[in-house]
Amino acid sequence: MSPTSSRSSRRPVFVLVGGTGDLAVRMLWPSLAMLDQDGFLDDQLRVISVARQQLDHKAFVKMVSDAINGRVGKDLEAGTLERFLKRISHVSLDASNDQWGPGLKAELGDLSQLEVTYFLSVSPSLFKPICEHLAAAGLNAEPNRVIIEKPIGRDLASSKVINDSVAHAFDETRTFRIDHYLGKETVQNLIALRFGNIIFEPLWNAQAIDHIQITVAETVGVGERLGYYDEYGALRDMLQNHLLQLVCLTAMEPPSGLSSDALRNEKVKVLKSLKPIDAATVHSHTARGQYGPGFAEGEKVAGYEAEKGSPSNTETYVAVKAEIANWRWAGTPFYLRTGKCLPSRATEIMIQFKPVPHSIFGGEAQPNRLVIRLQPDEDIKLTLMNKAPGLTAEGMHLQALDLSLSLAAVFDANGEKPPRRRIAYERLILDALGGNNAQFVRRDEVEAAWEWVDGIIEGWQKTGMKPQIYQAGTFGPLSAYTLLDRDGRSWND
Ligand code: NDP
Ligand code: BG6
Repeated sequence: MSPTSSRSSRRPVFVLVGGTGDLAVRMLWPSLAMLDQDGFLDDQLRVISVARQQLDHKAFVKMVSDAINGRVGKDLEAGTLERFLKRISHVSLDASNDQWGPGLKAELGDLSQLEVTYFLSVSPSLFKPICEHLAAAGLNAEPNRVIIEKPIGRDLASSKVINDSVAHAFDETRTFRIDHYLGKETVQNLIALRFGNIIFEPLWNAQAIDHIQITVAETVGVGERLGYYDEYGALRDMLQNHLLQLVCLTAMEPPSGLSSDALRNEKVKVLKSLKPIDAATVHSHTARGQYGPGFAEGEKVAGYEAEKGSPSNTETYVAVKAEIANWRWAGTPFYLRTGKCLPSRATEIMIQFKPVPHSIFGGEAQPNRLVIRLQPDEDIKLTLMNKAPGLTAEGMHLQALDLSLSLAAVFDANGEKPPRRRIAYERLILDALGGNNAQFVRRDEVEAAWEWVDGIIEGWQKTGMKPQIYQAGTFGPLSAYTLLDRDGRSWND
């Protein structure tokens, strides 16, 4: 029996609003097909795509087939595509028109028999009109729910407007805010690592940890999304959501369980404990960069302003020294950085432990370090001091060795095929269809994150702090290095 069929006697429907868009094509259609292949979709599930574009069924099926083949073609088993394509249909409706609601209602049929999950894969400016259409047509009643994508606003005020407009149609328990990092297998593994092992917790605090670094480095530039990106920049696009979620999972107290409230209550406490950064501290606590001409991914890059064709103060790189004002973390900074057109793709969390309180080995005893690598490969490394093997006349020497848990290597060693690396949206769509919102972001989390990020933006504005140019294909602006130099530390490059 599939997970959704056991929950409700109603027929499940997944309405993909924006079914012809970039996110749907690259991520959502392939995710749905893979869920179907693995038996996670209810036999009765229908998937309805909604967009303005007129597509007859043949053209629509071709678009979806191409999307699925393009992303997961090599993983498709015989019969999957045919089975999936039987579930889907497309309806052409314009959200700026009042006929949107009645049009969708006619497509859905008898609502009393349905459990509808709406995924709004459209510009956030359409969330309000779409939620109003859903409410006006009576399509929002329980148990129906809505999934919305980031960005939830550009600041606290605009995020409240979006959240309010969605809240008019769907209560919080039926509102699923996506941060796709929470759907990544490796990000979920953080919870397993921290709370499934006893060895870390006694040392997981400011007494034993000197500092923590969280890096999300991308080799890509802004590409086709320049219009959106120029309004947002790295702080709003990446740090406000993905990096702060990683901070939460790294810093939160052990939750009492895995329920959505237990997890999210702990995450929000972390966000509310972030020490504000303002005009007085923005220069010592942040670095802003923008990629200039150079090379990335082996290709010549003209530079952000040249790509845009006009001057811009949007940062494509940001680094922040975040401090958490609570008993566990006071005195242990979290250095966060993310940027585009960097030399390698890497998402990692580095926990730098303190030195032993009294070294009997002189300067040879280096402090331990735990590196949790989330992307592109999944790897956990704990650097430990060992006796250097062999005999020396002057006594014992130390050497640093890694205790390494590479998940790919474990499967290799067992002669097993590693499980397919899932698209983050697979987990999130599956959870949303089942009504489980633990891996979605609650309203108070989004708002607490914006409140802190707004302080940084205001500090930049008040002090006129502009992005420093870095050559595309290098590790970011000099100011990001000064940020750590000032504290006698350096990035784990
Ligand atoms: P696109 O612009 O590629 O797609 C938008 C979709 O909305 C299209 O299907 C479009 O179809 C439809 N649409 C636009 N206007 C209307 C309208 N008036 N009425 C009905 N449908 C309309 O956007 P993306 O797919 O890139 O992004 C979707 C959401 O996901 C956004 O919230 C974005 O911020 C978020 N996101 C996207 C990411 C990505 O990698 N693309 C990453 C993270 C978040 P049509 O024009 O035919 O109406
Ligand atoms: C998105 C950002 O949320 O995450 C993009 O809008 C970014 O700018 C992307 O490239 C990174 O996601 P991932 O899964 O490739 O690390």
